[in-house]
Parts: sequence; C-alpha cells; structure tokens
Amino acid sequence: MAEPDLVLRFQRRFLAARQLRSFPWPVRGCGRPGSGAGAAAGRGLALFRAFQELEQHLRASPDSSLLLDVLHKTVLHPLCVKYPPSSKYRQCFLTQLIRKHEATAAEPLDELYETLAELLREEECPACYKSYILPTGESVTLSESLAIVSGGTTGLVTWDAALHLAEWAVENSVLFTNRTILELGCGVGFTGIAICKTCRPKRYIFSDCHPCVLHQLTQNILLNGFTLGPDSAPCIQGESQGQGAAGTSCQVPQVMVAELDWGSVTQRQLLDLQPDVIIAADVIYDPEIIVALIGMLEKLSTCRADGKSPEAYIASTIRNPDTYHLFQAQLDKAGIRWQLLPAHSSSTLLSDVQPNLSVLQLFL
Ligand SMILES: C[S@@+](CC[C@H](N)C(=O)[O-])C[C@H]1O[C@@H](n2cnc3c(N)ncnc32)[C@H](O)[C@@H]1O
Repeated sequence: MAEPDLVLRFQRRFLAARQLRSFPWPVRGCGRPGSGAGAAAGRGLALFRAFQELEQHLRASPDSSLLLDVLHKTVLHPLCVKYPPSSKYRQCFLTQLIRKHEATAAEPLDELYETLAELLREEECPACYKSYILPTGESVTLSESLAIVSGGTTGLVTWDAALHLAEWAVENSVLFTNRTILELGCGVGFTGIAICKTCRPKRYIFSDCHPCVLHQLTQNILLNGFTLGPDSAPCIQGESQGQGAAGTSCQVPQVMVAELDWGSVTQRQLLDLQPDVIIAADVIYDPEIIVALIGMLEKLSTCRADGKSPEAYIASTIRNPDTYHLFQAQLDKAGIRWQLLPAHSSSTLLSDVQPNLSVLQLFL
C-alpha cells in the first residue's frame, strides 16, 4: 500500500471519528501516556487496523515525515481544527500515534507531544463534530451526539446505513437529479446533505419526528451552507453559515425540514410534499414502529397529484434478521412489492464492506 493512500485512509477515518471493531489486540493505555488511566479511557473504543500498517511503514523507514503527514492530515487538518471530533477521541488517536513513533528508533517529535498537551487542556463537551469525505471528494460536517442513544432517540448520531445509502445514491445519482426527494427518519441529516451536495436534486425534504433531532438537523443543514424553506434561493452565495453549499457548481436544491411522525401523519400533510423519490436509512430496527412505517408508505403511494407512485429505497443494517423479515412480511401483507438491490463492491465511507447492510427498493 502506497503511503499517500495510507494517510488518506487515516484522514477519512479520523475526521469521521470511525471506530474499527476488528481491533486485533486489547485496547491498552488509550489515555494519557504513563497515566495508567488508559484502560478506562479506552473502554469501548476500538483502534484502527490501519495502525498496524502504519507501524510496518514506520519500521521500514523510521524518519518522521510519515507521522507528521498523518498528524497534519488528521488532528491538525483545518476541518478538524474548526469542527473537531470529541476531545477524548483525538487524545486516543494521538496517543496511539505517539506510541507508534516511540516504538521506532526515531528522534522525539515535539509537535506530537505539544499537540497532545493542548488536547489534554480541553474540556469535553456532550456533542462533537464528524466530517465525512464523500467519494466525490466533497465533505459533509455534522454536529452529533457522543452517545448512540441520547434524549430518548437514536436520531442524534449517523448510522452506518446512512453512509451506505449515501454511497449508493452517489453511484446512482441520476435517480435523484432534478427530482423531489423525501427522506423519512433522517436523523442529523448525513444522507440528505450528501445527496444535496452530489446528486443535484430539485427539492429535498428532510423529515423526522423527534424535536431534538429536528433542531440538530436544522443546525447541520445550515452548517453545510444550505438555507431552509421553500423560498430558498436557487444558488446559495457565500459561506457565512458554514462551509458554503458544498462547493457545488450550481443547482443548489430547495431544502425543507418537515416534522412527520409516521404514526400520526395525515394524507393532507403528504399532499403538500409531492415526492418523486422516498428514501430512509436505518428505520427498521424496532418491530413496534414497522406497522406505522408501512402505514406511512401506503399513504405516500397515493400522495401525488399526477397519480404516479413515488420510487422508494430503504437502507438497513440487519442486526436482527427476524425484525427485517417482519418488515418484508408486512410489506407483502400491504401488497407492496420489494427487491433487494445489489451490494457495493467497495466502500470509502465505511472502513470495510459490511455484509449486513442492504438497500431495498419498494414498489409502492
Ligand atoms: C436509527 S435512527 C436513523 C437516523 C438516520 N436515518 C441514520 O441512519 O443515521 C432512526 C430515526 O428514525 C426516526 N423515527 C423513529 N420513529 C419515527 C416515527 N414514528 N416517525 C418519524 N421518524 C421516526 C428517529 O427519530 C430517528 O431519527
């Protein structure tokens, strides 16, 4: 593996604060070097498999340039400086870099220790930023919760199915170009913002039911340079809100946020939306909400003025096959045909191709 590719993989994973579950040795000393607090600090964290490769490179050529490159493209990268992942995450990462460096016979690198010293002075806060580099090279930066469930919702973090759906959308962007997209249970907005930045939809309607999720989502849409409301300007100028509308060449979509609860939504609410395409990621995780979701899809099948049914795509992480099969059985019962779409052969947003991720196409 060439070094630039290795550094890029570090960068992608670090900026998105990815954790690898395939960590092949026990997590030790992930906290302050020599503090003895490492095991506690590192609990629940998996470290990068890429560290192994880094170690091999460092042993092969123990000069400091590779480590400095990694440092500057991760912890000191301008995106990280402006929108940092959690302080603990950065400390763990840097501690590992220092370990790898110390394991070689190279001279001490002051910059590594100075950066860690600065990090250790930071206070941890309950939210963090994650920046996802899309396959097209654009980035999506989101403010997310540190906990996978917080405020009684799973919607304040980005789930792998959202990354998978975005990657699939980028590969199939023609399905989204110049069309009105409705996303159900969109959480903090990753898939939608990625599609708005890369697929040139005409209109994008983010929807969810949870007030905290809707608040965080709105902040993230603005952070990524989009403005809200049906009267949004066709092209967004300037970067005052955040990153600027993606550096997209033009055709910035009209972006809307809708509070839609599948259990209580009315046909009338849906008539105003007129979606061409409906998408959702990681919404099939609880048997109790499957009935409401299918009821919502049935209502959406007849919501368009021209009588055509919208296209629908749902990405899932299959954690419990029984729940997934229950969803398929309920679709059959409702007379909604479905097919499983072919899996990606590779993934840049996810560290590895994950076999339990799927995209279902529904025929409403
Ligand atoms: C596991 S999260 C997935 C969030 C995002 N799509 C992702 O994959 O990162 C499930 C989302 O579905 C939303 N949700 C759950 N039940 C809902 C309902 N009845 N109506 C609307 N949204 C709902 C939650 O608020 C949450 O944002």
